[in-house]
Amino acid sequence: MWTDSKLVLASGNKGKLREFSKLFADFGTEVIPQTELGVDSPEETGLSFIENALLKARHASAVTQLPSLADDSGLVVPALDGAPGLYSARFAGSNASDQDNLNLLLDRMTHLSGEDRRGHYICALALVRHAADPDPVVVIGRWYGQIIGAPRGDGGFGYDPVFLPDRLSQTAAELDSETKNGLSHRGLAVIELRSLLS
Ligand code: IMP
Repeated sequence: MWTDSKLVLASGNKGKLREFSKLFADFGTEVIPQTELGVDSPEETGLSFIENALLKARHASAVTQLPSLADDSGLVVPALDGAPGLYSARFAGSNASDQDNLNLLLDRMTHLSGEDRRGHYICALALVRHAADPDPVVVIGRWYGQIIGAPRGDGGFGYDPVFLPDRLSQTAAELDSETKNGLSHRGLAVIELRSLLS
């Protein structure tokens, strides 16, 4: 059972802060964004989402001396050797917009069809009790689907307009946010984290 009264979130993203604050309120834990405690973002040198989530959590914990939670997420297309992968946010360059990244993905996939158009979102969460915690809580959520040839919908963000989840006829950008959160990689990871902490 999780009982700490404070937790630093290794992210400054307001949406994530809201989501994780709600989750940890049930455990009586206050979630403080790292930006409020003067923590910078470390270089993400890991080779996987889980490694990057862990290094961000350990860094925030080392600086603040508080337990820390970090997430790392992205889109994986196996036919592209896992790209955009760790580089999902900057696939088309360091100042690329969501639209630039999505266009580059579609360009790279024009010659692909069938099974080769499969892709999944992944979200890794890492929770450390202290910077050197040898037994962190780690969970991974995955959301499977395929990458369609042209964007549809204006909700969500990132690659959502071209991500058609399995068993659905709407893209992730055509789903309302509640439905998306109930099915998504992040939603699944949060559910698992909750069950591990209870
Ligand atoms: P971050 O972990 O929130 O920084 O996400 C990294 C990148 O992965 C984002 O900039 C998006 O390109 C992509 N991504 C992660 N989750 C989603 C999602 O739910 N929808 C669309 N794109 C996502």
